[in-house]
Amino acid sequence: MKGIVLAGGAGSRLYPITQVYSKQLAMIYDKPLIYFPLSLLMLGGIKEALIISNTETIPLYQKLFGNGNHLGMNIEYKVQAAPNGIAESFVLGDEFIGNESVALVLGDNIFYGKLDFLYNAVKNHNENGGIIFAYQVTDPERYGIVEFDNSGNAISIEEKPKNPKSDYAVPGLYIYDNSVVEISKNLKPSARGELEITDVNKVYLEQKNLRVEKIGRGVAWLDTGTPKSLLQAANFFGVIEERQGLKVACIEEIAFAKNFINRVEFENLIDAMPKSDYKDYLVRVLKHS
Ligand code: DAU
Repeated sequence: MKGIVLAGGAGSRLYPITQVYSKQLAMIYDKPLIYFPLSLLMLGGIKEALIISNTETIPLYQKLFGNGNHLGMNIEYKVQAAPNGIAESFVLGDEFIGNESVALVLGDNIFYGKLDFLYNAVKNHNENGGIIFAYQVTDPERYGIVEFDNSGNAISIEEKPKNPKSDYAVPGLYIYDNSVVEISKNLKPSARGELEITDVNKVYLEQKNLRVEKIGRGVAWLDTGTPKSLLQAANFFGVIEERQGLKVACIEEIAFAKNFINRVEFENLIDAMPKSDYKDYLVRVLKHS
């Protein structure tokens, strides 16, 4: 299983800061937003990840993650020339994906709570078909929306419908078998000029090859699309981290906990960090391990 983090896009709703850097580098309390989706892949056991973004931002991600070896990972990069749609990830990622299945996570999606079902879906996906999720929201016209029949089977999926058939939104974590590459290559751009992830899901749904898992109310799926929602997310994790003394989406801690790196490698990684609260935290993690 390979992993892709899509972390480009226009980010126009966050102007003017997005004139300078991409939204997924915005701070969520004590770390860049992209740490959250990347840590989701890592907790799903994925060691090989591709980060897709625009020309200007790729060098910044390279500065942040390098080749990923310090995390026991292999991180590659690919430029998306323009925001041509989420499904373009699989066209751009063709070579990287090879013959494997792939999990795509949107670089601005944050999940928090008991997420084992997400990690397990990533870890155990060796069947044919796709797995997506459904999360109840109050503003369904902003998302991909899935409709269920009375037995709980998904029967339709629509992108940002004016008259939503349900309030179940599809969050930005998508797990597919290898045929997603061919499916994406054959898509036509939508009215807004994008290769739509919803069109990929429609193909899997028509083939009766799509599993849609509802996410319960114990999980937070946070929005990061506006300055206000970014601030709310930062406050949310600030409160939790201060209260527990534990960090969320701390990729170095996860790499150690998942045995991507051994104790010595973890020590070296910490040593190389500048003096900071973040480093002090990892020193404590090491001491208590
Ligand atoms: O967040 C979940 C929603 O994401 C889904 O429910 C929708 O079905 C899906 O289409 C998408 O909705 P948006 O249209 O609101 O996504 P947005 O354009 O905001 O892009 C999501 C992230 O992906 C964002 O961080 C920017 C990045 N992106 C997006 C596109 C279209 C890229 O890097 N390249 C792109 O071409």
